[in-house]
Amino acid sequence: MQRHFAQLNNGTGLWAIALKDSREIVGTIILIQLRDEKENLTQDYEIGWHLKKSAWGKGYATEAAKAILDYGFNTLKLPVIYAIARSENVRSLRVIQRLGMIPIGRTNRYYKMELEMFKLEAPKEQTHE
Ligand SMILES: CC(C)(COP(=O)(O)OP(=O)(O)OC[C@H]1O[C@@H](n2cnc3c(N)ncnc32)[C@H](O)[C@@H]1OP(=O)(O)O)[C@@H](O)C(=O)NCCC(=O)NCCS
Repeated sequence: MQRHFAQLNNGTGLWAIALKDSREIVGTIILIQLRDEKENLTQDYEIGWHLKKSAWGKGYATEAAKAILDYGFNTLKLPVIYAIARSENVRSLRVIQRLGMIPIGRTNRYYKMELEMFKLEAPKEQTHE
């Protein structure tokens, strides 16, 4: 199954975040290839999240992000995954921080705006040289 997903759109996508017990969908999580200024796909993969407001403050975004990072590193074998956020998006920046992502500065390269960029490298034992 995972191999099948990995063949579609280079394995990228948008997933629903559902609560384990009730199955209620509370948000979405993405792992997609970033597009450059000319809208061409790059080889840089971005993780992102969105929860409905009533689901904030419970750790769901962080838990979902960890699962998708695991998929990106272990199934897709990505060497690095990026996250980008507006500097005023404090809640998103806190998720990024909780995931242990490393700040690499501001960029104008994506989404036609200035954004803070972060990266997380694949755990060492899982990289294939
Ligand atoms: C960004 C967004 C997903 C963050 O949601 P969030 O609820 O703050 O993030 P998490 O799900 O990781 O939850 C963390 C919070 O839950 C708390 N929490 C409770 N139980 C927890 C647990 N088991 N594990 C981790 N955190 C837990 C944490 O203390 C933290 O609360 P705090 O920030 O008040 O200290 C949400 O604000 C959102 O959807 N925003 C709009 C969309 C958006 O901006 N997306 C990003 C575009 S770049």
